[in-house]
Amino acid sequence: MEFEYTKGVYAPREDSFLTVEGIEKNIDVVSKDGMVEVGVGSGYVIINIRKYCDSGIFVGTDINFNAARQARTNAIKHGADVHVICCSFTRPFRRNGLPRIYVFNPPYLPSDPEVDVNLTDDELIALVGGEKGTEVMEDFLKELPSPSVAFCIVSSLATTLEDLERSLKRWSITVVAERSFSFERLWLVRFSD
Ligand SMILES: C[S@@+](CC[C@H](N)C(=O)[O-])C[C@H]1O[C@@H](n2cnc3c(N)ncnc32)[C@H](O)[C@@H]1O
Repeated sequence: MEFEYTKGVYAPREDSFLTVEGIEKNIDVVSKDGMVEVGVGSGYVIINIRKYCDSGIFVGTDINFNAARQARTNAIKHGADVHVICCSFTRPFRRNGLPRIYVFNPPYLPSDPEVDVNLTDDELIALVGGEKGTEVMEDFLKELPSPSVAFCIVSSLATTLEDLERSLKRWSITVVAERSFSFERLWLVRFSD
């Protein structure tokens, strides 16, 4: 699938591919009602998942307006019925107004003042998840109605799975896909309550 990117929009890479791979394995969870992808970036994840599902509501959000616009353009180009809006998390929506299946490949790197100073605002928002690296994801999870299922990328540079379980007591945590690189391990974690 060919995607268009504009400057400042996160281009798909290993974490995006791992997200699609993990959701494909759990497609039965998504195919009934659809899903919400927070932080769609170019739209790579939600557009690839949409093609497996005949029905359901597919909504993408991104806090970066250029990303929201890019995702919508890519959805139209690929004939994918995906709605996209620019906002933080899913804040403008009614609490019970969306499918309860969420996907978020969040900014997950711990902040590093020496590196961050060289990043643009868009790069910072796409990459850095806070001092530990998990803060943006944790804020997102806190806002979800119960019950929900959320699939999120987590990096070993930010946390361990044991720490995650200790700090996020509301959630039952399962790894649905993982991959190792020379410097980090990435997990696609399924949170359910
Ligand atoms: C790591 S990128 C992932 C992009 C895309 N989903 C992918 O996998 O290729 C993180 C995305 O989350 C967006 N983002 C960061 N904070 C957000 C928030 N509070 N609400 C919505 N989107 C957010 C960023 O703008 C960026 O597009």
